[in-house]
Amino acid sequence: MIRINEHYRKLKASYLFVEIAGRVAAYESAHPDRPVIKLGIGDVTHALPPAAVEGFRKGITEQANDETFRGYGPEQGYEFLRDLIAKGDFAERGCEIAADEIFVSDGAKCDTGNFQELFSADITIAVPDPVYPVYVDTNVMAGRTGIWRDGRYDGLVYLPGTPENGFVPPPPSEPVDLVYLCFPNNPTGATATKEQLAEWVAYAHRVKAIILFDAAYEQFIRDDSLPHSIYEIDGAREVAVEFRSLSKTAGFTGTRCAYTVVPHEVKAFDSEGTAHAVRDLWNRRQSTKFNGVSYPVQTAAAAVFSPRGREEIRARSDYYLANATLIRETMEGLGYECTGGINSPYVWIRTGTDSWAFFDDVLNRAGVVITPGAGFGLHGEGYVRISAFNDREKVTEALSRIRAAL
Ligand code: MLT
Repeated sequence: MIRINEHYRKLKASYLFVEIAGRVAAYESAHPDRPVIKLGIGDVTHALPPAAVEGFRKGITEQANDETFRGYGPEQGYEFLRDLIAKGDFAERGCEIAADEIFVSDGAKCDTGNFQELFSADITIAVPDPVYPVYVDTNVMAGRTGIWRDGRYDGLVYLPGTPENGFVPPPPSEPVDLVYLCFPNNPTGATATKEQLAEWVAYAHRVKAIILFDAAYEQFIRDDSLPHSIYEIDGAREVAVEFRSLSKTAGFTGTRCAYTVVPHEVKAFDSEGTAHAVRDLWNRRQSTKFNGVSYPVQTAAAAVFSPRGREEIRARSDYYLANATLIRETMEGLGYECTGGINSPYVWIRTGTDSWAFFDDVLNRAGVVITPGAGFGLHGEGYVRISAFNDREKVTEALSRIRAAL
């Protein structure tokens, strides 16, 4: 008799954004005359930058001709793209990352979800709270947690992000093996300073842990003192893996391209205490389970690294950041305490009330979709997240509806 992976039974019924989509669909069918404005899931609304479209066309044209056609590509991504990433995203910021430490993929969600496979089932994992639910749910699926009880999974070390620590939790007092960090943070929009990341890097060295650093929102940083990459911190090459994405920065949510950096120095140990290069394990995993990102997507991504592409994506992130400022100023004007929205496309708003009730209220009274903080963890209760990813007119209209409704 075929049997299920029992760990799936520990999961909540549906993934956060699926639950939200269900509630929104119910509202839309009950109010077909009232168009909903979506500031919930962080999904971009602007078309691909023209440079990327040109890169896409180039790739498609090549695929349309026998002379230039390419079949299976390297599972790790084409050299031309990995070289551009190494130079444009790292060397130019003083970080030493080699092209063979970069693995191009179809999304940071997949990579942050899959990476845990490389590690033993009995390691101890720390996650911030609130947190992007993918880090938690994928470890639940892998059997690294106990049951869901009182808003948390047994067996995980939760690191509360609170107004007191500026939503940047410090390392725990106990040793853990794997830590997920995300800055600029999803969902709180908080950013971490070099000193705060240095504390984490020192901790990881001390306890022989690995940091999985999600930098999917680094393009939104405008404060020059803030690190864009964990590799700006001395010693990070030995203990950190970094995830990047073109989704929010270059409008690739529907096109799919991201990458993961695994320096050669990052090591994990077997039961005999022998060290193994995590980069080689990830390479083994990817070449077994992944056939690479499509060639035209990679030519489009490469074009994002051209001077014109960079200018275009900068203009797009400026646009979404201006939305974030509007959101933050409006919500502060209504008397709410806010975090994020500066160096980040997310605004984290303290409502002090049940966050799903607040979500329902804003949906029903204003026809605006936001994200309830409780969906990101126990410490997200009493908060909601508003995303800046939409057109200016829609954001402005949503804010005036919220102002009228609250
Ligand atoms: C979010 O809204 O949190 C993100 O869009 C989710 C994601 O990138 O998968």
